[in-house]
Amino acid sequence: MQPFSLFAPAKINLALHVLGRRADGYHELDSIVAFADTGDWLTFVPGEDFGIAADGPFAAKLPEASGNIIARAHEAVKGLLALRGIAMPRASVRIRKNLPVASGIGGGSSNAATAMKGFLRLAGVHDLDDEIMAAGLKLGADVPVCLRKVACRMRGIGERITPIAFQPRRAILVNPMVEVPTPAVFKGLGLQPGESHGAAVTDESDVTAWRNDLARPAIALAPVIGEVIATLSAMPGVTKAFMSGSGATCVALTDGEEVELPEAKGWWCARTMLS
Ligand code: C5P
Repeated sequence: MQPFSLFAPAKINLALHVLGRRADGYHELDSIVAFADTGDWLTFVPGEDFGIAADGPFAAKLPEASGNIIARAHEAVKGLLALRGIAMPRASVRIRKNLPVASGIGGGSSNAATAMKGFLRLAGVHDLDDEIMAAGLKLGADVPVCLRKVACRMRGIGERITPIAFQPRRAILVNPMVEVPTPAVFKGLGLQPGESHGAAVTDESDVTAWRNDLARPAIALAPVIGEVIATLSAMPGVTKAFMSGSGATCVALTDGEEVELPEAKGWWCARTMLS
């Protein structure tokens, strides 16, 4: 088989409502997720021993972050295939890391989901099933939605996924180049196990009613996120600005307007289309 490349798009949470904290410590979510046409690329080279080579603007951060999760995805697929009596295909992975790591846009989860898909494809497995989705969830709460790779409403801790109708929207992504660890942001909500928090998403298409409950604790950890949201909100042509995931990447919906990127502040910026 020839080498092939798969796109690992950025995952954007347009809504991230935290409903409460479960007894096991995880947080119950209600989220609207879409995918950007900005992302990383994974190239699979069949016949080579497994290994991860990285290039691109954020390659230096590997393998500690995303590289590591690709290795875990490789192990997960090996386990899935062993149960089916299928030999694990040999292939190495080259990743072009365009997305900042630990930045709330699912770089690691999307890499993991794409790595799983690449290895499954090499093994002749082309359809997602519950077993594959469950193996993805073990790698990370956002991996199942990244396996689906279409706009979805995501509930539970990430395992309840239903595709939604989503009108493609223009947006810009802005990251102030601070890393905020996801567990610390969730912890910053200060919820006790069993404690409830905010209301669920009431309308799957009304952008104005969506919120990100993780913005407050993320801004407490990294105040510059508040500055990014304020800067984007004040820009002509921006209809809504908000943080994605546990941050620090923020998103401005521009709905067709050509807006200027706030690159002068040294922030990572990308024009994108969400769908
Ligand atoms: O699953 P993932 O690696 O993305 O989650 C990182 C951490 O974020 C978890 O270990 C947990 O502390 C927190 N988390 C949570 N509730 C979720 C998802 C993540 O508390 N629904």
